[in-house]
Amino acid sequence: MVENIFGAAGFTALGLVVLWSAAAYWSSRLPYSASTVHLRRRAIGVVLLLCLGAALAIAKAVLIAAVWPVGWPAMQLKLALELGLFGAPTLAALGVSLPRLLRLARRSRAQRRPLAADERAGTARIALVLPVQAAMLGAVAVLVYTFFTAVPLPVKMIAVPPLLVTAGTALQAVRLQRRTAKLRSPAWAKPRLGLRLLRAAASLVAVAAALWLWLSAASQMSVLPPTLSMAAGVMDTGGAAPAGGHAHDAMGGISVASLNGPRQGEPDKRFTLTAKRQTVSLSSGAQVEAWTFNGQLPGPELRVQQGDLIEVTLINSDITDGVTLHWHGLDVPNAEDGVAGVTQNAVMLGQTHVYRFVAADAGTYWYHSHQESYIGEGKGLFGALIVDPKPAGTEAIGPTVLDIPIVAHTWQGTDNAVSFGTSDGIRIQEAAPGTPVRLRLINTDNDPIAFQLQGTPFRVSAIDGTDLKEPTELRDQELQVATGGRYDVTFTMPEQAVQLLPRSRHEPKEGTRTALVFSTSGRDETAVKPSLKKLPVFDPLAYGRPDPAAVAKLTGSYDRQFTLILDKRLGFYNGKFAFSMTINGKLFPDTPMLMVREGDVVKTTFVNHSTANHPMHLHGHHMLVLSRNGQPSTGSPWWVDTLNVAPGDVYEVAFLADNPGLWMDHCHNLQHASVGMSMHLMYEGVTTPYVMGSATGNHPE
Ligand code: C2O
Ligand code: CU
Repeated sequence: MVENIFGAAGFTALGLVVLWSAAAYWSSRLPYSASTVHLRRRAIGVVLLLCLGAALAIAKAVLIAAVWPVGWPAMQLKLALELGLFGAPTLAALGVSLPRLLRLARRSRAQRRPLAADERAGTARIALVLPVQAAMLGAVAVLVYTFFTAVPLPVKMIAVPPLLVTAGTALQAVRLQRRTAKLRSPAWAKPRLGLRLLRAAASLVAVAAALWLWLSAASQMSVLPPTLSMAAGVMDTGGAAPAGGHAHDAMGGISVASLNGPRQGEPDKRFTLTAKRQTVSLSSGAQVEAWTFNGQLPGPELRVQQGDLIEVTLINSDITDGVTLHWHGLDVPNAEDGVAGVTQNAVMLGQTHVYRFVAADAGTYWYHSHQESYIGEGKGLFGALIVDPKPAGTEAIGPTVLDIPIVAHTWQGTDNAVSFGTSDGIRIQEAAPGTPVRLRLINTDNDPIAFQLQGTPFRVSAIDGTDLKEPTELRDQELQVATGGRYDVTFTMPEQAVQLLPRSRHEPKEGTRTALVFSTSGRDETAVKPSLKKLPVFDPLAYGRPDPAAVAKLTGSYDRQFTLILDKRLGFYNGKFAFSMTINGKLFPDTPMLMVREGDVVKTTFVNHSTANHPMHLHGHHMLVLSRNGQPSTGSPWWVDTLNVAPGDVYEVAFLADNPGLWMDHCHNLQHASVGMSMHLMYEGVTTPYVMGSATGNHPE
């Protein structure tokens, strides 16, 4: 909802410019009216435009008011500047120009006669015209502001637009003064049509040419270099001293290619995943033109045991753009991380790549292609990856009998209903009363998905693959799973039916029709109609038992501290004009490179200044949530690999730099990542032989 408001902000700015320019133009034409009747008609036209412009200005003010609480003083400075620049002249136009225009508009239609010199001069008076023209300038300034992030707001953007608007208005006042004097002279004659047209055409051409020059230069300048190395970039050392005198040796140091998993040894589990195009039917019969692994949607569930040595062979059968495999949430050695252009080359048509690593941590994970991930992952190149704990069945809740991964996805080309795998209707699962159930909720969309488990109390047993400590029983709470995130939910099958329903932002109007219904044996639940309730949202911040000893290392002092401000701005990115997603006001590859040394304790603060959700995902590490909006985390240690930073939120997280390499750290709304919201974490002394960019086959986002 708030996100829609922001999209609206750009359009209202543009609308303000259009309406106020029209109003300014027609008000400057008033003296040229051929007769009193003509003047009246024109005045009515300007009044109408003014009313429309004022209505849009009110809408804009309402939008600013809606976004205001999301922001911080720095963001509010930009909003206040915008508000002042269009608000003040709009009020002047309504208070000063409008009554005068209304007077002209209310004149009698009875006699038609040419304007007298005084009358003519009167219609060009400053009080009548200037506020309208100032409002137009203010609207242009507001539009210009959408090209800049609020933080950091370039200093020139604080002073220059107000100055230009003021100076423009003053100049215009002088011009109007002169014009009125000329108009008052009895010798005045309306400029000839040809001359007027010529003047208008000349100024139009000048404006268009300037705009075109500027646009094409900006577009050109935004094109990314054809080859890019992740090892080059703007370093942010997080307050620590840079690598020092040995920087060069260090930089030439370890290649990510050598940070691989065990190359020798018989694997405990072996899988082959073949990427290929395939049309797949959902349970409703809807067809998906998918990119699949092994022809399945989602790809095959990979289930292994903690400590297993895994070998996965990736074959690209017919995905022209190339594929890779990234093990989302599982901390593997860097060379096995599967990011095209960072830890390997994309696997192109007919090629093969072998991944080998030990699954050290039990939990719910998933895998997906990290080559053009926005496209590939969207089309189906992903699946569940489950690591069962070593001695199986010793979890606090007792032995798990029914263990069901729920891979939730909104399939392209369908009507925006969230599906559970290919099930986009009601699926019945038989379960005898007393059966322990574990649901592994995996959100593979670009937006958060909320889940409702109706008909039973339950526990959130794990988040992002890590068990929570002593989770308490919940009931009637909605579980909001971050994009890319996972919740493990456990319950004991009661006497009556239980249902799991998804709710997403893009849902069809009639609500979801996807449901997983647990039915006690023998009963037919096919008559159920999924119906979502209005439920409070579960908050992990104070859930479960704290375990200070377990996290002591991360709650003391920090070797590095980073602050990352998430925002968006209008402009060019890689030659395309669009809203881009910024980190500290920058777009990839100008986003900061977070430098760490092995063993560092690192604190990161995420600040969301935008009005969109940003699920921030750090590869190769797990982050401990320390606080949200100043409120410390008081429940079970809350570990995440993908943290949804909602509009206005400030999260402090900490992690231990214990997995050397070069790791992506990006927004997992993959569309956002593809328009700039991507950066990486880099260990000192690590370098990569891989490159990305248009001259290479590697396009990680
Ligand atoms: Cu699941 Cu870099 O991503
Ligand atoms: Cu984002």
